Amino acid sequence: MKIFSRINALFIGFLILGTGWIWCISCSGDTPYLVLSPSLSPTPYTLPQPWGFGTMEIPSDNPMTVQGVELGQQLFFDPILSADSTMSCGSCHFPKRGFTDNLPVSRGIHGKPGVRSSMSLMNVGYMNTGLFWDGRVMGLEDQALLPVADSSELAHQWSHVEWNLRKHPEYRQAFSDAFGIRDTLSLTRDLVVKALAQYERSLVSSGTSRYDRFRAGTLELTPDEQIGYDLFFDISPEVKDAECGNCHNAHLFTTNEFVNNGVQAAKTLADFKDTGRGAITGNRYDNGKFRIPTLRNITLTAPYMHDGRFATLEEVIDHYNEGGQISPNIHSLVRPLGLTEKEKGQLLAFLHTLTDEE
Ligand code: HEC
Ligand code: HEC
Repeated sequence: MKIFSRINALFIGFLILGTGWIWCISCSGDTPYLVLSPSLSPTPYTLPQPWGFGTMEIPSDNPMTVQGVELGQQLFFDPILSADSTMSCGSCHFPKRGFTDNLPVSRGIHGKPGVRSSMSLMNVGYMNTGLFWDGRVMGLEDQALLPVADSSELAHQWSHVEWNLRKHPEYRQAFSDAFGIRDTLSLTRDLVVKALAQYERSLVSSGTSRYDRFRAGTLELTPDEQIGYDLFFDISPEVKDAECGNCHNAHLFTTNEFVNNGVQAAKTLADFKDTGRGAITGNRYDNGKFRIPTLRNITLTAPYMHDGRFATLEEVIDHYNEGGQISPNIHSLVRPLGLTEKEKGQLLAFLHTLTDEE
């Protein structure tokens, strides 16, 4: 009796497996394995080098090519990466808004809210101390793996994404042209994130902002912008020091360090609502610290800070002028500045010169 039921169970098991296999072949509508013929070798991509930006570090196993950047751009804006085909990376990183979404915190598919504000991707290839507000991921390739599977972002499964891209005649050819793969099974998530990272590295400022033209000597700032510049960088002894340039230093307008600029009030190091960097390093003195964000294109990326708490740049300037919220590890440069209404306006005028005009 026992032996009989075992054989029975085995038989049923095989039956289920077998029908599953037949169903899978007929359901695919396409063979997962196809031979591809890459076109000639991809063309190297030349990155623009705005004055003062230095050299971008590019991983040796993912050199930039024209075909790779184009493919990455197509993937970045394609909802094929989301579970219900409604969202793409571009849904939270709009080019016209400095690659952010203008929401306090981003929303994923079905409107599911995340916990932090979207970040600008302009010049992201230069952010070399860790990505995200808390710096939890080092490279753009590794970063790009996360939004696809994050339940409050694209909420998809990588195996499905791979399957859909392999089925897609234009994509499989584009992957073959960019990376020289010779069959569809070589089209993997590793190549998807390499293409996305190549596109993101190509997002470099044009070097045509009023600030850049002023630095290049081809434009004069207005008197208000000039005083704002002096306030920001502490240039002239006749103008107050607003301390901004110590953390948001030229030419990326960030040192890329992690500091507490006093946006969250906390009685002790354990009281921060979002512990930020501390959750990554495990060091409680890092609680409440976030990566200093770039201020390039800052007029396009409202609302501001990791939680989008300030709707306008006027509110941000008031925050710094008042010296921030009290907490044990607030940075000493965040202190009451004593700026007048006029000086606040001049600082604001300077921030407006940081917007790329192309
Ligand atoms: C639902 C909205 C949303 C989607 C979709 C989304 N992102 Fe983001 N992105 C964010 C938010 C929010 C952050 C900051 C999160 C944090 O710090 O915890 C972020 C941060 C980033 C950063 C870090 C930037 C920096 O300076 O450190 C990169 C790079 C990035 N996203 C790329 C992508 C790519 C590539 C995709 C598509 C595969 C994507 N994002 C999809 C909302 C989104
Ligand atoms: C001690 C370093 C430090 C100083 C000084 C400082 N900042 Fe910041 N700034 C930061 C950090 C860190 C953040 C991000 C904090 C967060 O999101 O919680 C930030 C965020 C910002 C943002 C929001 C950026 C965004 O993408 O949301 C603006 C705007 C800004 N600072 C402008 C200024 C101005 C103007 C000054 C001078 C009055 C200044 N900062 C001085 C460290 C500093």
